[in-house]
Amino acid sequence: MIRFTDIIKAFVGGIARSKVSLLGAIMATVTFPVLLVSAMLDMQGVVENPYFGFIIYMVLGPTFLLGLLLVFLGLFFFKGKEEVGIFTYDYLKEQFTEPDKFVRVRKFIMLATGLTLLNIFIVLLTSYTGYHYTESVAFCGQFCHTVMAPEYTAYQNSPHSRVKCVECHIGSGAQWFAKSKISGVRQLFAVALGTYSRPIETPVHGLRPARETCEECHRPELFHGEKLYVKDKYLPDEKNTHVQTVLLMKVGHGGYRGQQAHGIHWHVAPENKITYTHTDRARQQISEVVLEKRDGTKIVFASDRAAESAPDGKQEGGVRVMDCVDCHNRPTHIYLTADEALDLKMLGGKIPTALPFIKQQALEVVNKEYVSTEEAKNSIATQLRTWYQEKYPALYKSNILMIEQAITGIQQAYEENVFPSMKIGWNTYPNFLGHKNESGCFRCHDDGHTTKAGGTISMDCETCHIILAEDEPAPEILKTLRGSK
Ligand code: HEC
Ligand code: HEC
Ligand code: HEC
Ligand code: HEC
Ligand code: HEC
Repeated sequence: MIRFTDIIKAFVGGIARSKVSLLGAIMATVTFPVLLVSAMLDMQGVVENPYFGFIIYMVLGPTFLLGLLLVFLGLFFFKGKEEVGIFTYDYLKEQFTEPDKFVRVRKFIMLATGLTLLNIFIVLLTSYTGYHYTESVAFCGQFCHTVMAPEYTAYQNSPHSRVKCVECHIGSGAQWFAKSKISGVRQLFAVALGTYSRPIETPVHGLRPARETCEECHRPELFHGEKLYVKDKYLPDEKNTHVQTVLLMKVGHGGYRGQQAHGIHWHVAPENKITYTHTDRARQQISEVVLEKRDGTKIVFASDRAAESAPDGKQEGGVRVMDCVDCHNRPTHIYLTADEALDLKMLGGKIPTALPFIKQQALEVVNKEYVSTEEAKNSIATQLRTWYQEKYPALYKSNILMIEQAITGIQQAYEENVFPSMKIGWNTYPNFLGHKNESGCFRCHDDGHTTKAGGTISMDCETCHIILAEDEPAPEILKTLRGSK
C-alpha cells in the first residue's frame, strides 16, 4: 500500500533527480504567484501600461506552461541514474496491468487528477485572458509604439475610436482568427528585426472583405436620405476670413422598406454588383468597370486610363468587387490635409483666428519637411516667433500669449497627422471619399469610362450632391436653415 506521503516524496525525489524536471519545477514555481497576482491586477484594470499585458500573457504565461511540461517530460524520460520509483513508465505499466496493484494506485490517480485540474484551470485562465489581451486596442495600437503610432493616433481622433481594431481587421469566425494570429507572429518578427515598411503599406490586401466586418454594425439599406454637409474653412489672408461650403449630400441607401436603392449607397444595394479592373497596386487607375444587375445583364464601362502609368510606379493590376472600403478606405485612420487640420484647430479655438495671417503662416511652416517630430515642433515655434517679431513687433510684445497658444495648436495639428519616423507626410494615404486630386469618386466618375452605346459614369456635380454654397462667408442658405443666428 502506497501512502500519500510516498507519492509526494517520489514526486519531489523524481524532480530532484531529473535536471530537466528541476528546471521545469523552478520555472513553474517562480512564475506561478507572479502570474496569478498580475493576471488578477490586469483583470481589475489597475495597470495601464501596454507592456504589462505583454509580459503577463506572452512571457510569464508561456514560461509557466513550459515549466509544467518540462517537469513531466523530465520525470518520464530524463530521469537520473537512480530509480525514481512510482513516476517511471515501467512502474506505472506494472501497476496498471496487474489488477491487485491497480487498487493501490488509486490515491496516486486522485492526486494526479487534482493537480491536472488545477493546471488546466491555470492554463485556461491564461489562454483566455491572453487571447483577450492580443485582441485589445492596447496590444494592436500601443505595443509596437512607433510602428503603430500613426494609425493609433488617427484612430483615436476618429468616429471609430470606441471600436476595437480587431472588429475591422479580423471580425468574427475561426478562419480569420487563425489567419490573423499567423500574420501577427510574422509582424512581431518584422518589428523585432526592424524589417517593416515605412510607411506601412496600404491598401491592405489581406484585409477581410469590408461587407463582412462593417455590416456587423452598419446596415447599408438604412443610410437614408440626404445629409447636409457643412465645411468650415479659413482663407490664408490677413483676417483669416472664415468661409463655409454647404452641400446637400445624396447619401441615399441600398433599398429600404420597399424603396428603390438610390444616391451614393446605390453601389452597395444587393441588386447592383460592381466589379472593376485596376492597373496599379494603389487602385488609382481604373481601366474597366462592370455593373451586373440581378437579372444578369452586364454593362461594361471601359476607359483608356489603363495606358497611364501608376502614380507610385507600382504597376500591379487586379480585379476587385467594389465594397465599402473602395470609398471609405479611411474610415478610422483619417489623416487630414494640412488645410483641414489647421481649419479644425482654428474652428475649435486652439489657434486664435484674431492673429493676422496665422492661417497662411501656419500652412507654410507645417508643409516643410522635418526629420523628427521633435525637430518639427521646435522649428515651427521658432519660425513663427521670428515672423511675428519681425512683421508685427507691437503685437508680438503685447500678445505673446496668443502667439504661444497658436504655436501649440499648430504643433498639435502637425503631430496628429505627420509622422516623420514612419515616413508619413501630409497626403501619404489618399482618402477616396470625395474627389481630392481627381482621385476618389473621379477614378470612375470621370465621364471617360464609356459603354459601347455611349453611356458614361456621370461626372455631373448633381449626381452626388447639390452645391448650396461654396467658400462663402455667412452663406444665406445656412441662415435659412438654421435661423438667423
Ligand atoms: C472601422 C474599421 C477599422 C478599425 C476600428 C481599425 N482599422 Fe486599421 N484599417 C482599416 C481599413 C479599412 C484599412 C485599409 C486602408 C486601405 O486599404 O486604404 C486599415 C489599415 C490599417 C493599417 C495599414 C496602414 C494604413 O494606415 O493604411 C494599419 C497598420 C492599421 N489599419 C492598424 C490598425 C490599428 C492598430 C487599429 C486599432 C488601434 C485599427 N487599425 C483599427 C479599418 C479599421
Ligand atoms: C463594431 C462596430 C463597427 C464596425 C465594425 C464599423 N463601424 Fe463604422 N461606426 C460605428 C459607430 C458606433 C459609429 C458612430 C460613431 C458616432 O456616431 O459617434 C460609426 C460611424 C461610421 C461612419 C460615420 C462617420 C461620420 O463621420 O459620422 C462611417 C462612414 C462608418 N462608420 C463606416 C464604417 C466602415 C466603412 C466600416 C468597415 C470598414 C465600419 N464603419 C465598421 C461602429 C462600427
Ligand atoms: C460609392 C462610395 C461609397 C460606398 C461603396 C459606400 N459608402 Fe458609405 N458613404 C459614402 C459617402 C460619400 C458618404 C457621405 C460622407 C460625408 O458625409 O462626407 C457616406 C456615408 C456613410 C455613413 C454615414 C451616414 C450618415 O447618415 O451620416 C455610413 C455609416 C456609411 N457611409 C457606411 C458605409 C458602409 C458600411 C458601406 C458598405 C456596405 C458603405 N458606406 C459604402 C460613400 C460610400
Ligand atoms: C469603381 C467605380 C466607381 C467608383 C469608385 C464610384 N462609383 Fe459611383 N457609380 C459607378 C457606376 C458604374 C455607376 C452607375 C452608372 C450608370 O449606370 O449610369 C455609379 C453611380 C453612382 C451614383 C448614381 C446612383 C443612382 O441612384 O443611380 C451615385 C450618386 C454615385 N455613383 C456616387 C459615387 C460617389 C459619391 C463615389 C465616391 C465616394 C463613387 N460613386 C465612386 C461606379 C463607381
Ligand atoms: C461621384 C460623386 C461626385 C461628383 C460627380 C462630384 N462630387 Fe463633389 N463631392 C463628392 C463627395 C462624396 C464629397 C464629400 C467629400 C468628403 O466627405 O470630404 C464632395 C465634396 C465636394 C466639395 C467640398 C470639398 C471640400 O471642400 O471639402 C466641393 C466644392 C465639390 N464636391 C464640388 C464638386 C463639383 C464642382 C463637381 C462637378 C464638377 C463635383 N463636386 C462632382 C462627390 C461628388
